[in-house]
Amino acid sequence: MKSLGNKRRTYGEHLTSIGIFKKFILPEIEREIYNYRWVDLFCGEGNLILPILELVPEGKRIEFFKKHIFLFDIQKELVEKSILNALKYGIPKEIAQRNIIQRDTLKNYPTFILDSDLPVYHITNPPYLYIGYIVKHKETRKHLEYFQGPNEGYQDLYQLALINDLRNGIKKMVYIIPSNFLFGFSVSNKIRDDFLRYR
Ligand SMILES: C[S@@+](CC[C@H](N)C(=O)[O-])C[C@H]1O[C@@H](n2cnc3c(N)ncnc32)[C@H](O)[C@@H]1O
Repeated sequence: MKSLGNKRRTYGEHLTSIGIFKKFILPEIEREIYNYRWVDLFCGEGNLILPILELVPEGKRIEFFKKHIFLFDIQKELVEKSILNALKYGIPKEIAQRNIIQRDTLKNYPTFILDSDLPVYHITNPPYLYIGYIVKHKETRKHLEYFQGPNEGYQDLYQLALINDLRNGIKKMVYIIPSNFLFGFSVSNKIRDDFLRYR
């Protein structure tokens, strides 16, 4: 079994606290919660989406969850943790398991989330792993496959997350990303140019 620190490095894991979500993101979206499907493709423990349920009256949460919330993570343990966290908001386990799913969303974008009359709003803190690090370490080298074909030239996992959203027509997103997206030179020129073209 991989050690905790090792897994964090392998999967670019840095979880966001509910406090950060409530302070910086919730005020931006709280008047619109019924208008979107809320998704985190790299959800960790679900802290960037599940607290939205607090705004929904208890008797309506299950229906809201079924229609409005979808979470994914590559790590089984984190998916299980997110399901447990959903239970705390009154969502039954079998229903939580339908919309909180283990999946490699960098490799297989879950296009079924787009099948709805509601547009997707992606809120995430995506995995960060710089390609220079990925190349150098045995346990991350498998990630190099993500950077092939149309993804050649990108430099970090978070950049692939962003471009996948744009390719799938996502218009609304909140991304917690490193400041080098705006200020870095060679590491982020391509993603900046490609991303800002979609403005
Ligand atoms: C920076 S953490 C953030 C988690 C959560 N969004 C939060 O803010 O608390 C990134 C998450 O992405 C997950 N992850 C890494 N690679 C992934 C992939 N290819 N597909 C799906 N999830 C992935 C990691 O397991 C980790 O939980």
